Amino acid sequence: MYVLFLGPPGCGKGTQAQYLTEATDFLQLSTGDLIRAEIKAKTELGKQLESLYSSGKLVDGGLVLKMVQKVVASEGAKSILFDGFPRTVSQATAFGEFLQSVNKKLDCVFSFSLADSEILDRISGRMTCADCKAVYHAKTNPPKNEGICDKCGGELVKRTDDSRESVKLRLEEYHRETEPLKEFYKKENLVYEIDASQPIEMVRKQIFNKIEAISK
Ligand code: AP5
Repeated sequence: MYVLFLGPPGCGKGTQAQYLTEATDFLQLSTGDLIRAEIKAKTELGKQLESLYSSGKLVDGGLVLKMVQKVVASEGAKSILFDGFPRTVSQATAFGEFLQSVNKKLDCVFSFSLADSEILDRISGRMTCADCKAVYHAKTNPPKNEGICDKCGGELVKRTDDSRESVKLRLEEYHRETEPLKEFYKKENLVYEIDASQPIEMVRKQIFNKIEAISK
């Protein structure tokens, strides 16, 4: 099964992706994580992507599609959760053509919605594990020991693109480039709406129930 998480920055896509990959055989394909891994490893590609990424702008869609194609080519037989890709109508069009060329299709698009004011709160309190990428929040989802990941004991850090200025730009990019994808996928009858202002556990249940229903 191929599903997609579509939604603004900080709405909880990564948090829910973690639950899904821990409890099922879904593979999380997060383009944000792939970009951060390239930057951390200081590869040529990482150097190319770093300044746009840190500023909060979308990086080159062609490069992102190549990363996605590489993962699908090696892991395509598994169920995949696409997290943060596609993010523009042109990425979605190219992605659809690619899926068709490998005889695959999307089964559901989970469309998360959350007010901009709440997004700023969520991102300002976010901490991410430098090792296993688990996500926490100072108030709503704190780790048991401050600064330390519950799952692997790794150090919890702030992302370089989580500054106020960068989040503002990411939101602008989201409304301009990514939000139109809802209509794009509605035309394909794939959209399942998620009210991301609900507590984490309620969102989790809603997603799991839908996945179970699709699997039948
Ligand atoms: P990416 O890494 O994909 O980031 P994003 O989409 O901006 O989303 P986030 O990871 O910030 O948030 P999230 O929705 O996962 O929320 P989380 O679960 O952490 O992309 C980063 C950058 O990479 C982009 O800006 C761009 O430059 C580049 N990029 C990526 N893909 C690209 C593409 N396809 N094309 C071009 N460029 C691309 O939750 C946030 C916080 O809220 C956490 O602290 C969490 O604990 C808390 N929380 C979660 N759920 C709840 C809840 N229900 N209630 C209360 N708190 C909650």
